[in-house]
Amino acid sequence: MGARARGYDLADSSAEPGLALHVAVIMDGNGRWATARGWPRLVGHRRGAERVKEIVRAAPDLGIRYLTLYAFSTENWKRSTEEVIGLMGLFSRYIEREADRLSAEGVRMRFIGERGRLDGKLRRLMDGIEARTAGNARLHLTVAINYGGRNEIARAARRLAQAAADGRIDPAAIDEAALDGALDTCGLPAPDLVIRTSGESRVSNFLLWQAAYAEYEFTPTLWPDFTPDELATILSRVATRERRFGGVAAQ
Ligand code: FPP
Repeated sequence: MGARARGYDLADSSAEPGLALHVAVIMDGNGRWATARGWPRLVGHRRGAERVKEIVRAAPDLGIRYLTLYAFSTENWKRSTEEVIGLMGLFSRYIEREADRLSAEGVRMRFIGERGRLDGKLRRLMDGIEARTAGNARLHLTVAINYGGRNEIARAARRLAQAAADGRIDPAAIDEAALDGALDTCGLPAPDLVIRTSGESRVSNFLLWQAAYAEYEFTPTLWPDFTPDELATILSRVATRERRFGGVAAQ
């Protein structure tokens, strides 16, 4: 059993229900969507939050068991105070308004990223929904807030260094599995597919460690226009690719 056994074999999936795909999404283009209509950027984010609801609802029937969404990066603090506060409010409202539905629909919700800089109310809501949905497994929804891949890897290294300094771990035992287990995503399988909307072809510090063997798909569609139908089309297209994980083509 090699690396392939750890993840989920998208090449054999045909995007059928009952699979256990991990799809990660860089939800980009909210600002441009709103600006093109002469509206404030926050209107685009609000529309983007509606898309999040639709995609979360549709995901299990598309064979997605793990859905990871990039909602706010460590670099997004550079935006205007109004936009940052608006986004944080959207995250809080999403949790408050969707909690009952997520619980009822078997969604386990988790967050990755550094929480220290987030406001107390949002942090309490995040902790609350994580605890409330901890027993669910139909869909694992992970939302990245104040997340950066480099920041996550640095924090994981710090945790391991502290464990070594305390004598809880032998430095010689620090291997890939140990680092993997010290990341915010501990317990989640590696993503099979990373999708980025809005026509940008960049990784932007998202799941740098975890996506080492992921497939990537870049679509010009702006996130507020991204539909479950387009997601299904992308999954079918990617399902025809062969993933080799550094090995050779199947005979
Ligand atoms: C990037 O588009 C998007 C964001 C920084 C925010 C993503 C947030 C949401 C989709 C809304 C709510 C999310 C949840 C989980 C409830 P951009 O603003 O950088 O777009 P631009 O590149 O066109 O300016």
